[in-house]
Amino acid sequence: MRTALPPFTLNDGVEYPAIGLGTFGMRGSEGVDAITAGLEAGYRLLDTSSGYRNEPEVGEALRRTTVPRSQVRVTTKLLGPDHPYERARRSIRASRERLGGDPIDLYLIHWPNPRQNRFVEAWRAVIDAREAGDVVSIGVSNFERPHLEAIIDATGVVPAVDQVEIHPYFVSEPLRAFTAGLGIVTESWSPLGLGRALHDPVVTSVAAEHGVTAAQVVLRWHHQIGCLPVPRSSDPRRQAANLDLALVLSEEEVERISALGRPGSPRYGRLWGGDPATEER
Ligand SMILES: NC(=O)c1ccc[n+]([C@@H]2O[C@H](COP(=O)([O-])OP(=O)(O)OC[C@H]3O[C@@H](n4cnc5c(N)ncnc54)[C@H](OP(=O)(O)O)[C@@H]3O)[C@@H](O)[C@H]2O)c1
Repeated sequence: MRTALPPFTLNDGVEYPAIGLGTFGMRGSEGVDAITAGLEAGYRLLDTSSGYRNEPEVGEALRRTTVPRSQVRVTTKLLGPDHPYERARRSIRASRERLGGDPIDLYLIHWPNPRQNRFVEAWRAVIDAREAGDVVSIGVSNFERPHLEAIIDATGVVPAVDQVEIHPYFVSEPLRAFTAGLGIVTESWSPLGLGRALHDPVVTSVAAEHGVTAAQVVLRWHHQIGCLPVPRSSDPRRQAANLDLALVLSEEEVERISALGRPGSPRYGRLWGGDPATEER
């Protein structure tokens, strides 16, 4: 089933599905099977990275599926060691080849790596890759306000997307307000909190009230706070269920879930400490 959620329109005018399939860890023939199953289940957005070492698997799934390539959006990302301009341009072309040769639909800088401090240079390379036709839409991941201001001040080009950690235990309201003000779409990584958020009593009680799964509640919550989640599942039944988001949460339910992820709440926090201010990847 395709999701009934309306697509996003990125700030470059491109339409983007409201939910994508995360592919971290989907490698080898099992990975190809899981990604192909996701496409057949109805996903039209795949999220990978040069760092996941599964771009060939994504490319193979795109070849194998019955879904026309033109209907699928593929996101991949640039790693820190490839931030220097020429390396970035080469890395982007290599990703394009591994993914099957079509222009990459959305290309992100994976982490700002502030200590290395070459992310502005990387952003120039990504902009030029768009000019060259290697990529269509461009954005960033794990960029916080100072990193966003630096690349926009240097180039005048506003990213279409910022993919950041967001789940019920980490809701990042100030950053989301800032990026929304710039017309940047927020994508949520680890949107299910790596599965941990699915056992939270607040989430399970809302799920019971609606007669849906905890994952459906969490994914619908992402949608209602204005985010684009990229949940990962290798299980075809869970893949399909995660697209079935017709339920509507009340404002009070959205607020109860958001409250779990604010500073001061007992379970508040990043899943594994990936702080963009210090992380170097
Ligand atoms: N930009 C970044 O720095 C960054 C960082 C981390 C992740 N990401 C992206 O975000 C994607 C998603 O994040 P994630 O993979 O870390 O974790 P996630 O999507 O929050 O959680 C994945 C886990 O939830 C389980 N799951 C999925 N649907 C379920 C359901 N309906 N019921 C019960 N369990 C369910 C999956 O197991 P099954 O497979 O068994 O269903 C898997 O163990 C990644 O794959 C990657 O593409 C990006």
